Amino acid sequence: MKITKICCIGAGYVGGPTMAVIANKNPHIKVTIVDINQARIDAWNDPDASNLPIYEPGLAEIVEETRGKNLFFSTEIDKAIDESEMIFISVNTPTKTYGKGKGMAADLKYVELCARNIADVATTDKIIVEKSTLPVRTAQAIKSILDNTGSDVKFDILSNPEFLAEGTAIQDLLNPDRVLIGGESEDAIESLASIYGSWVPEHQILKTNVWSSELSKLTANAFLAQRISSINAISELCEKTEANVDEVAKAIGMDSRIGPKFLKSSVGFGGSCFQKDILNLVYIARSYNLHAVADYWEQVIILNDHQKRRFADHLISTLYNTVSGKKIGFLGWAFKKDTNDTRESAAIYVADHLLNEQANIAVYDPKVSNEKMQSDLNHLNTRTEEENSKLVQATKTPYEALKGAHAVAIMTEWDEFKTYDWKKIYSEMKKPAFIFDGRNILDKSEMENMGFEYSSIGQ
Ligand code: UDX
Ligand code: ADP
Repeated sequence: MKITKICCIGAGYVGGPTMAVIANKNPHIKVTIVDINQARIDAWNDPDASNLPIYEPGLAEIVEETRGKNLFFSTEIDKAIDESEMIFISVNTPTKTYGKGKGMAADLKYVELCARNIADVATTDKIIVEKSTLPVRTAQAIKSILDNTGSDVKFDILSNPEFLAEGTAIQDLLNPDRVLIGGESEDAIESLASIYGSWVPEHQILKTNVWSSELSKLTANAFLAQRISSINAISELCEKTEANVDEVAKAIGMDSRIGPKFLKSSVGFGGSCFQKDILNLVYIARSYNLHAVADYWEQVIILNDHQKRRFADHLISTLYNTVSGKKIGFLGWAFKKDTNDTRESAAIYVADHLLNEQANIAVYDPKVSNEKMQSDLNHLNTRTEEENSKLVQATKTPYEALKGAHAVAIMTEWDEFKTYDWKKIYSEMKKPAFIFDGRNILDKSEMENMGFEYSSIGQ
């Protein structure tokens, strides 16, 4: 099928950047990204590209170059579905918060709604592409809905998981390690492969069956997260033995079989994918009675929760076993640098723990608003909205967050944190002035020479 029009349902962290790059590299294809969220679509259409709903280095430039030419953002979902030959499903698949599989399984209601929407509206044959991360065999559910519409419209279903990481999304999309396409129909696979072929070398476009493709995405995220939990487990041992986790990571990473990436010990991984996908993997394994497999992967999450908790506990015990009424300055709230995304950010859980101990928290993050921080905390339902807003406040500058603070907690590895005037910060903090570097971004001896009591992860 010759593709001239693409529709993408879901204008989020995956759909937005992916489609912007596809449109940019395929000027002959009209790409329309649709979403039920009017405010989000309005933000994507904002003439000032610095107001886009998501922050990603390089994204605003690509959107500005392509928007209005062959890239469009709209809430007219039915129209975009009907006119397109290829439809990407790029909606969120959060962990279920109710019913069977609560807290473990992926909630597929948004995906199912999309499939039903397509089934209702489509009058011509379509290729449906699963872009959202989905449990193995979801394509079967989508297919069953689409095959039972009573019309003679034909649907081909492909799995095309997205491997971009936030903060480097545009670079990852422009230079992917691989593009993975799973499907049955050779024609449909070729149609999608030719779209990526506009900029991705053919040998990097991998074609598999649908189930391998779906499972590869979950497995890739599980392996990546496992590396972080592995090095974080070693970080705790380093703290007891005077080994330095960054030196250990470097030493093992030089073994070409291990490799140097994804070995940065931290306060714990966050983001919308790792925890959700591993829980999902665990749930699927248990549903097949594969308890040894499930227990194995679950440990990655257990260790990550432990890492977040022990960071907060260490802060409290160092501050003479009480943070009640003390001001703690947080640097960073996003789950990693160069994004405004806060989903599952370690900062949320560390803050929640400190708030239970009645701390006052002032937060500076270059890209996250006070509103977002409040909604992240309110979502946990630990205390009332009023209490959260009284105890936690975002500040406009880092110096405001740290002035008069008993301790600094570095939660995100934003580059700018390294360049602050740390002498000034020291002079304005309560003494002893403590730094808890949850990302190991500052120089220990430099900070100690300034007078700080500095502690980091695994050192
Ligand atoms: C991840 C996968 O990398 C990506 O391929 C997939 O498509 C989506 O999930 P993302 O969550 O956006 O991407 O970011 P990633 O760079 O993987 O970081 C995830 C978390 O792990 C962050 O909180 C990050 O700070 C943390 N991390 C990462 C570490 O603590 N140490 C590391 O060495 C690497
Ligand atoms: P991701 O990180 O997977 O991209 P996001 O939450 O950032 O997840 O984006 C998913 C988007 O999908 C949201 O903007 C949401 O409004 C949109 N969405 C969810 N369900 C539907 C639907 N049935 N039709 C259109 N858009 C939807």
